[in-house]
Amino acid sequence: MLLAPALRARLAQARKLVVFSGAGVSQESGLGTFRGPGGLWERFRPEDLATPEAFARDPGLVWRWYASRFEAMREARPNPAHLVIARWGGRFPSLVVVTQNIDRLHQRAGSRDVLELHGTIWESRCTGCRRTRATVELLAEAGGTLPPLPCACGGRYRPAVVWFGERLPEQVFARALDEARSSDALIAVGTSATVWPAAGLIEEACAAGALVVEVNREPSALSGLAAVALAGAAGEVLPALETELGAWPTRA
Ligand code: OAD
Repeated sequence: MLLAPALRARLAQARKLVVFSGAGVSQESGLGTFRGPGGLWERFRPEDLATPEAFARDPGLVWRWYASRFEAMREARPNPAHLVIARWGGRFPSLVVVTQNIDRLHQRAGSRDVLELHGTIWESRCTGCRRTRATVELLAEAGGTLPPLPCACGGRYRPAVVWFGERLPEQVFARALDEARSSDALIAVGTSATVWPAAGLIEEACAAGALVVEVNREPSALSGLAAVALAGAAGEVLPALETELGAWPTRA
């Protein structure tokens, strides 16, 4: 058993569940995480690739990095962790997925209500008129020459993701905050919980009385806050947790 009986009953009976996810949930789909051994930020410097200043300095370099990540994300498939979370959409009366990931694997697994705190790599936005276009089209048009062709307004397209030093999309964050504060339980999956303000949502949920459960291969910044930290790979722990919680409606 993963959870003590009292915690299991509390989670099984949650009416409102928030799943808060980070790069670790997509690790078993073959996508790299940012921190820790082998992480992207060990090989690359965020200030060279993931800031507005880096883009202004060298848009081709930034685009080449995002284009290669986009190709990997496009080829990746949802793993058992994404699939359990999607099935929970039918098990809990309310389930909102709040993700820091830009890969859209939650949506591809079938999750319907997904709040993308850091935007998505599947879309690109003009820095001039803010028109958005599908990244797949822009890259096809570019035919390997990056950065892609400019927008009709003369502005440059950039990936529609949030970079360091930028604000999170206001309405998305406001709703995520509401959902976290009003949730009965929040399961944080595969995140180091070190990037703010996203990580602050976990504290908000906890302060509002939600049951916080962590799923991570290793202890993280939030382990102290969580009522329980389940150690292991998300693609193994979540299916086990799904079996343990059983089907809705569950009354202890
Ligand atoms: P991190 O790379 O910081 O953390 C990933 C976490 O997932 C770590 O705590 C790992 O231990 C854990 N992990 C790895 N594989 C796992 C698995 N198979 N199952 C469960 N846990 C696993 O990624 P995030 O927390 O998502 O932001 O990072 C947050 C933000 O920092 C990202 O959105 C990105 C990055 O810089 C921007 O680019 C703005």
